[in-house]
Amino acid sequence: MIIPVILAGGSGTRLWPLSRQHYPKQLLKLFGNYTMLQQTILRLSGLPELLSPIVVCNQEHRFMVAEQMQELGIADAKIILEPVGRNTAPALALAAMYAQEVEQSPTLLVLSADHMIRDVAAFQTAVDVAVRASRAGHLVTFGVTPTHPETGYGYIKTQAHNGQGDYLPVQQFVEKPDFITAQSYLAAGCYFWNSGMFVFQADIFLQELAVQTPDVVVTAEQAKTWATRDLDFIRVDRESFAAAPNISIDYALMEKSANVVCVPLDAGWSDVGDWKSYWELSDKDSAGNSFIGDSLDVGSTNTLVFSQDKLVATLGVDNLMIINTPDAVMVAHKSQAQQVKSLIGKIEKLK
Ligand code: GDD
Ligand code: MG
Repeated sequence: MIIPVILAGGSGTRLWPLSRQHYPKQLLKLFGNYTMLQQTILRLSGLPELLSPIVVCNQEHRFMVAEQMQELGIADAKIILEPVGRNTAPALALAAMYAQEVEQSPTLLVLSADHMIRDVAAFQTAVDVAVRASRAGHLVTFGVTPTHPETGYGYIKTQAHNGQGDYLPVQQFVEKPDFITAQSYLAAGCYFWNSGMFVFQADIFLQELAVQTPDVVVTAEQAKTWATRDLDFIRVDRESFAAAPNISIDYALMEKSANVVCVPLDAGWSDVGDWKSYWELSDKDSAGNSFIGDSLDVGSTNTLVFSQDKLVATLGVDNLMIINTPDAVMVAHKSQAQQVKSLIGKIEKLK
């Protein structure tokens, strides 16, 4: 059987000022009537063999996550609470250990809680292939054809392919290369972007992780105290978990393992990582503007206005991102979308 594991512990800092520590992007309704977390779960509807999901998140967000599960009518989601964020490798180690307690030999379908996928049928077909590959003993990634030298993604090198059908052996996995390297990968033509979703057997995953980055497995072992439960919340020991290495699964395992395969994914995938990608995904007028909320414009081009209150008026501006929330306004050039993090650094210093 398949257990979806949803990673929902990120902070989404590049979507500031909308996404906040107390209210990160995966718990927000960025598009439509459902939050990113809810959309992640709804997209699984109809897949065979599915058990109820495990969501791994920071304990601070437990009630929001539980409420969002209830809104979907999911009464039996298991919510693993991290006392501190240690990135995705320790989070997944915990989830895999817990999954083995509730099911014999579970297949884990690991999903980020902050992706948009336009073509759900194509996504589900890719999941079918990935499940098959995982049952042949592989760690499975989903590869998206790159369109630009993005430095915020992992890159997967495979053999030449015709872009559809089966899974491909991975020759190299490089997490977040620098710009020049990313450019060379794009030119080479045999690299995919790593989508950040994975499928593997829980036992194979833990065995490989124990070989590649043993500290993650050791500390997760020490932290798991499933006995400490309340409601659907599964708590872990703070001190042991805080000692876990702060490392993502991409660095801890995928870059190092020789057992990774890739399923090509052509499903309109997008990581809504920053305001520029939000703009790209939004409906736009003929001048390339996207206006969300109360706004007024004359003559602007390629601009995003997102307003939660007050009228935002723009006049003849180009390539701006203007985000207005009740207590903060950000005005940034679209080329700076990745640098929004540096604003947060500055705000932290003011505190
Ligand atoms: N539970 C938990 N705990 N979840 C976390 C944590 C944590 O400490 N840190 C991040 N997450 C969640 C995020 O909420 C998101 O859903 C997912 O894990 C991925 O984390 P990101 O921080 O968004 O990773 P990334 O975007 O920089 O990189 C990953 O995704 C890219 C595609 O979007 C990597 O897998 C890249 O290789 C990949 O290209
Ligand atoms: Mg991400």
